[in-house]
Amino acid sequence: MANTIIHSCPSLKLARERKETITSYEKIKISSYLKSHLKNKKYYIYTHGCQANYRDSEIYKGILNEIGYKPTLDIKKADLVLINTCAVRENAENKVLGEIGNLKVLKAKKDMVIIIAGCMAMEETLVDLLIKTFLHVDIILGTHDVAKLPSVLEEHLKTKKRIICVNSGSGYIHENLPSIRDYKFKAFVNIAYGCDKFCTYCIVPYTRGRERSRDPKDIINECKELTKKGYKEITLLGQNVDSYGKDLKKKYSFAKLLEEVAKLKMPRLTFLTSHPYDFSLDIIDVMKKYKNIEPYLHLPIQSGDDATLKLMGRKYDSKKYLSLVNEIKKKMPNIFLSTDIIVGFPNESKTAFNNTLKAVKKCQYDGAFTFIYSKRSGTPAAKMIDKISDKEKGMRFKELTTLLNKIIEKNNKKYLNNTYEVLVDSVSKNNPNALTGRLMNNKMINFEGDSNLVGKLVKVKVTSTHIHYLIGKLIK
Ligand code: SAH
Ligand code: SF4
Ligand code: F3S
Repeated sequence: MANTIIHSCPSLKLARERKETITSYEKIKISSYLKSHLKNKKYYIYTHGCQANYRDSEIYKGILNEIGYKPTLDIKKADLVLINTCAVRENAENKVLGEIGNLKVLKAKKDMVIIIAGCMAMEETLVDLLIKTFLHVDIILGTHDVAKLPSVLEEHLKTKKRIICVNSGSGYIHENLPSIRDYKFKAFVNIAYGCDKFCTYCIVPYTRGRERSRDPKDIINECKELTKKGYKEITLLGQNVDSYGKDLKKKYSFAKLLEEVAKLKMPRLTFLTSHPYDFSLDIIDVMKKYKNIEPYLHLPIQSGDDATLKLMGRKYDSKKYLSLVNEIKKKMPNIFLSTDIIVGFPNESKTAFNNTLKAVKKCQYDGAFTFIYSKRSGTPAAKMIDKISDKEKGMRFKELTTLLNKIIEKNNKKYLNNTYEVLVDSVSKNNPNALTGRLMNNKMINFEGDSNLVGKLVKVKVTSTHIHYLIGKLIK
């Protein structure tokens, strides 16, 4: 431990606090020491988890660029490796631990600074493990400490010691941080950070702090800039976008924000994630009013069973969720509805699981992310005794995904032989001659085409369907 400088370590107790939000507009300063010592050095970043992490990585790239680092796609050439980690489920964490382990071999061959950032850095037990067993990690940086990257890097370079800088607590808002966006045509814009819902299974409120809304002016300015730059799509981001503005001194609603951004005329506008408790139907009214808002809604149900929903702390029951979905579909029949579902929450009975299947049948989802419950230490659900075997959970998971696939396959039929506007996203991973894009409602489509179409809006006719995507032909 003599080789370690501890500024702060994560604390679950502090992470539960909900203090008033402070917004800083101060630009970060890069010292002349860093600028002169790190010219032409290269960095490599791994990003795991949700869009919040991807957006943070864009900021890390912006900061490293200001210091003088250049990106490299070859990790063996990197002078600095940053792993932006996710803590939402155990398998996500295991993957990261494997990556950190592999870096040991690389670092033995070449001098490099290794930084662990993101949500895993916010966990007491993990930081403990990293300090004790992963001695090649140089810096551990928390999610509320992104802007401290230059100062901890400088301290590490000068002292050659390991630096732990993880402030738990409710966090603040830091505007004006530099960033290098991953795409030139689609952008993610944070509207709120953190989460106050404390669903009993979930680690996010501890790793990301209090729910804090950005000032609408700052969001709108960022979106204006993206429109000016010719971006084609904006995704407004928050763990729970529907509660946007409730914490601001001058109350502001998500529906109003959505409308203000839609007026900027970005070709495509969408948002993630909605919470059934806070969702209000005036959001659908705004979606209907503006043609550039995608008819796409991700509305996690998590479970279709009332007793389970209560234990999860979701603050709604199946009746409320189902009637919300009914009203949404009545107002907007063309909506693409997707969801998240957790299977095997502690002591989920067979009846409870069947209630989830029933709800899925009623909602007729167009897309779904399904997860097997993963115990997160420090959350209330981690203390619940669970008698359901992994084998049983695995069987239920399979039954649920089979049902969802059947529903999605049936829903896919409506696309066949129709032509749609598609925003081309990337060259397909499996076929260099194929492109992947999305319809206005977020449905994925693959088709043959030239890579110079990436980032453009094109017309594609659907020729066949697959469970998870459509297959089409480019219309010249
Ligand atoms: N704020 C968003 C996203 C949270 S994380 C929301 O509320 O929907 C994304 C999904 O991960 C959640 O919707 C949930 O389905 C899943 N998840 C979160 N914690 C989990 C856990 N401990 N085990 C399994 N799945 C989990
Ligand atoms: Fe986690 Fe619930 Fe917050 Fe989503 S709403 S991030 S599931 S605590
Ligand atoms: Fe993972 Fe943190 Fe996002 S736990 S899902 S990266 S908020």
